[in-house]
Amino acid sequence: MSFKSISESSTLQTSIRYQAAKKEMLETILEASRKIRVIQPSADGEVKEQYLKTIQTFAKNRGRDLYFPFLSSGLGSGPFIELVDGSVKLDMITGIGINFFGHTHPELVKAVIDTLASDVMQGNLMPSIQMSELLALILSKVGEGCRLKHGWLMCSGTMVNEVALKIVRQKKAPATKILAFKDCFAGRSTAMQEITDNPSYRVGQPIYGEVHYLPFYDVQQGLLPSIEATIRNMREVLARFPGKFAALMIELVQGEGGFLYAPREFYVPIFDEAKKAGLAIWIDEIQTFGRTGELFAYQKFCLNEYVDIVTIGKMLQACMVLYTEEYNPKPGLVAGTFSGSTAALQTAKRVVELLYEENLLGKEGKIGKLSRYFAKKLENLADGSCKGLISEIRAIGGMLAFKPFLGTLEDVKAVLLSLFDFGVVAFYCGHGPYLIRFLAPLGVMVESEVDQVCTLTESAVLTVLKRRNG
Ligand SMILES: Cc1ncc(COP(=O)(O)O)c(C=O)c1O
Repeated sequence: MSFKSISESSTLQTSIRYQAAKKEMLETILEASRKIRVIQPSADGEVKEQYLKTIQTFAKNRGRDLYFPFLSSGLGSGPFIELVDGSVKLDMITGIGINFFGHTHPELVKAVIDTLASDVMQGNLMPSIQMSELLALILSKVGEGCRLKHGWLMCSGTMVNEVALKIVRQKKAPATKILAFKDCFAGRSTAMQEITDNPSYRVGQPIYGEVHYLPFYDVQQGLLPSIEATIRNMREVLARFPGKFAALMIELVQGEGGFLYAPREFYVPIFDEAKKAGLAIWIDEIQTFGRTGELFAYQKFCLNEYVDIVTIGKMLQACMVLYTEEYNPKPGLVAGTFSGSTAALQTAKRVVELLYEENLLGKEGKIGKLSRYFAKKLENLADGSCKGLISEIRAIGGMLAFKPFLGTLEDVKAVLLSLFDFGVVAFYCGHGPYLIRFLAPLGVMVESEVDQVCTLTESAVLTVLKRRNG
């Protein structure tokens, strides 16, 4: 049955007046958006002064400087984003992975317009149709052999990870501990900062002894020694704390950790071992969702049948924890006022649809092709004009990184600031070496824009070198 014909809301959206107003609004927005197609330098004079002052006030109010003098106007076009001083940047980090379809994408603007008459936020007690449709769409895409059957929406990646943790603990009670991996990232709450393998993110915070870090796949060591090391370590810790571990939590491609990933042949024996020990397999796909060339990274690595819990977020525009029938929590464990804004939920559905409609997924999909092109261009720099200056090109889908110079924090910051001056916004990842990180909007990029990013990367790196050589 379709609700299309009976609600006043549908009557409104299909009315001639509404359609004409929407068309006019969209055309007006896109007309402005189309002007933002090239990098523009920062403003001079009075505008510059006012811009810097606004940024300083913002930094003062939040008690911390911004990483770059970046304050967006909200308008953009493809990978280009306008700042409030009228300058335009080429965005290669997309709000740390939010805007995979770039800025002011016509389809996403349309989705937002269609929510203008709705309540701004919605929650689990009184959801709107957008939430129901989004959940149904995601669950229809979990893939063959995958047992994920339910999902719950929250407003951040950290919160859906919290829910995942509570679900596995409830199911495996009295076991509470988590096996995670060296260099992993899970979020910023008290529990997630403990799972996150980065002591500098939890200074002055308590540690509850709930997490053990397994060694991750080590390219230098190779496959078999890596598997042996991880399984040996897992057996030791499980034997030391019998009945205490509830789940194995993993990012199949480590995000903050530096875009490291293993082949399927590493994950399979590790997951088999964890399953044998009765652990839940919890995959954190908050950064990888939609980005690796398949909708879920577990699909890319053909691990559908292993997953018990999966968390997604970032480019979806919404955050969700997905779980099997077996892990459906008891009533009372999971709730929360907000599930997302209506605009975000409507946009999220369009994001997933666009990944399919625009042939972005699969071996021959646009993500894979453009990612390979991008990686090749960066490798050309590493072998050519930037030889000895950049190395360790890492690429999987829209996740691309490289090591500048020796990969120290100073090296990374110098190159990032230089890139910003040349008009490219990026960020870093990794834990020594540190790497320049691109979470590129491959959903809208074309090869000539990849070329431009690489040319500007070359200029940025060579400028830092020149400065250092005095
Ligand atoms: C793998 C992973 N897990 C969890 C999170 C936390 O998500 P959020 O920042 O939305 O709370 C992130 C964010 O970067 C992430 O990359």
